[in-house]
Amino acid sequence: MDHFLYRDGVLRAEDVPLPEIASAVGTPVYVYSAATLTRHFRVFEEALAGLDHLICYAMKANSNLAVLRLLGRLGAGMDVVSGGEYLRARAAGVPGERIVFSGVGKTRDEMRLALGQGIRQFNVESEPELFALDAVAREMGLRAPIAIRVNPDVDAKTHAKIATGKSENKFGIPIARARAVYAEAAALAGIAVVGIDVHIGSQLVDLAPYEAAFAKVAALTAELRADGHDIRRLDLGGGLGIPYRRDNQAPPLPFDYGAVIRRTLGHLGCEIEIEPGRLIAGNAGVLLSRVIWRKRGEGRDFLILDAAMNDLVRPAMYDAWHDIVPVSEPEAGAELAPIDIVGPVCETGDTFATARPMPFVGEGDLVAFRSAGAYGAVMASEYNTRALVPEVLVSGDHYAVVRARPSFDEILSRDTIPDWIG
Ligand code: LLP
Repeated sequence: MDHFLYRDGVLRAEDVPLPEIASAVGTPVYVYSAATLTRHFRVFEEALAGLDHLICYAMKANSNLAVLRLLGRLGAGMDVVSGGEYLRARAAGVPGERIVFSGVGKTRDEMRLALGQGIRQFNVESEPELFALDAVAREMGLRAPIAIRVNPDVDAKTHAKIATGKSENKFGIPIARARAVYAEAAALAGIAVVGIDVHIGSQLVDLAPYEAAFAKVAALTAELRADGHDIRRLDLGGGLGIPYRRDNQAPPLPFDYGAVIRRTLGHLGCEIEIEPGRLIAGNAGVLLSRVIWRKRGEGRDFLILDAAMNDLVRPAMYDAWHDIVPVSEPEAGAELAPIDIVGPVCETGDTFATARPMPFVGEGDLVAFRSAGAYGAVMASEYNTRALVPEVLVSGDHYAVVRARPSFDEILSRDTIPDWIG
């Protein structure tokens, strides 16, 4: 459920009509709903109620400081994957003891930053990383709390570019080697083993792969404890999918995901961490765009929008399907006609939808891409020297620009021309 609904013939974010934001801020623009973010966070809290747990929001999904502050105030921890994300989480007021650090390629500088300023745990993904972290921690006179990310060799049945739990993927340590690596870790003076980490992929629409992975983690917990390790935390990653298509998709509910966690791991007495990103932010945001031209093509028509692949790359990158709806509510029973919906960037990949059945939308009209709150603004670029898309956060009947559109002066001022070019 989200808070983007038509009322009095116009699509709103909570109580704010989207045309109001389009006029004030311009388009394209991302619009987020604070009530939806809050609701989605609480749904996870309810799903894990009664279990000792921490929800570490995967901030790669949407790392705007206002979004982080809002979730942090609700009690969220953060899953970060870079020094930059760590600094964002801290700038949003999230304490180090609620931040987990994931990622296959942490640098020594990033380790130093997080260790120095406070971290709940590093999710270690390889032996070279383990030894480097040990050395960095010892240099600083500290012990780094770690979980080792195991790769359970489970097929998450999602898009190949976002599946992470198969043995051929770059992530984690093969589960078969886990005992050996934990034994190595236990011998390192700069390392304190606190748990196990697993993440099998993103946009999962079936609970069976979770069940399979968590069962393997349960068995490994018992083995590692028997080996003498203090396994008190299980980080289960994120990945629960969302219904991009409301007409034919019904991904599992967080409540049922919580039930799988209880059933497979509840008896171990571990603290449970989860790292949801998309489910919290995805349906809490839309990308608002205006039609520049309606163009007649050979056997097809095109809607050319002022949003492009640089603003929302998911369709170009993953063939992702986003619902695109007119901001003015179509009449009941309005005729739908197929149209290609594209952006102005100079490549054919800048296509959002092909032969999409749409009610009539004309030049100057507004459309909204639904489910764009996750992996939207964070993946935007300035390709074609298009300004980075701004972001707006709505709460009830008010809104704030939480990232302004940069001016072209700002954009140009980041480049410098060396004297020797003349
Ligand atoms: N934890 C780890 C270690 C991850 O790698 C990810 C996502 C998450 C948590 C959060 O997964 P979520 O709950 O959001 O599914 N850009 C792609 C998605 C990439 C996901 C990468 N890792 C997209 O637009 O679909």
